[in-house]
Amino acid sequence: MVTGDMPHRWYEDYERGRPGYPDQVVDLAELASPAMVLELAAGTGKLTRQLASKMAHLVVVEPDPGMRRLLVPACPGVEAIDGTAERIPLANDAVDAVFVAQAFHWFDNEAALAEIARVLRPGGALVVMWNVANGPVVPSVTAVEELLAPIWPQDSGFPLDMMSGAWTPGAWNLPFAEKTFNQIREALLANRQTVDPQALVAFFGSMGWIANLPDEERQPLVDAMRSHLTAAEYVLPWQTRVQWTRLSAPR
Ligand SMILES: C[S@@+](CC[C@H](N)C(=O)[O-])C[C@H]1O[C@@H](n2cnc3c(N)ncnc32)[C@H](O)[C@@H]1O
Repeated sequence: MVTGDMPHRWYEDYERGRPGYPDQVVDLAELASPAMVLELAAGTGKLTRQLASKMAHLVVVEPDPGMRRLLVPACPGVEAIDGTAERIPLANDAVDAVFVAQAFHWFDNEAALAEIARVLRPGGALVVMWNVANGPVVPSVTAVEELLAPIWPQDSGFPLDMMSGAWTPGAWNLPFAEKTFNQIREALLANRQTVDPQALVAFFGSMGWIANLPDEERQPLVDAMRSHLTAAEYVLPWQTRVQWTRLSAPR
């Protein structure tokens, strides 16, 4: 999914509504400092900001110009380049670590893992993470759920699911990975996202199947959602699932 063709407002909704990541995710792989780090599929820079605050050298690869348009001003000093996980525009042995947040499920796994192994220095780290729903929105948003249920994809969790389909965070761990990377370690981190009603509407608005509705359908839905969200703030209980490993086999 290289978005690129999403409506302009979708990127603002994405940035405003989607969750970030707990600070610990940056430290789990225990990188020696100064580290040269690559973030793949950086989007609007949700994780990039945290990496930039801790890593001496950071480059991000994001194929969607719409995402980069928001990422660059939000992450001053970070080099943002066009490219994909399957064709990383960096030399061999270029980085000490690769981070991927909420995106590995869009990659061609084997091609992406081969490219990641190519740009990692010997013993380099790969850190992959997803936010997964971990309970209901508080206070309840039942009225909004009833509004959205008729158009919510059958194969998606409801109402908090950012990965449609039967994809599970363990599916990237192909036999190929086992040959090239060490044992995969995992951590589950609580990640409570507190949002105001506008940001919650933006969260729902960032779901592709809502963002792509024709305006005459989408706007009344957005207005109806707003009218039902009367609390000052809402808590979205995510859990960040982080998996990390290091390059094992010399190439
Ligand atoms: C759900 S967003 C995640 C963005 C950001 N990492 C975050 O956590 O908010 C998925 C991102 O993956 C990018 N993407 C999709 N396919 C890709 C590929 N093959 N290679 C690199 N990035 C890709 C999209 O452009 C999008 O920015």
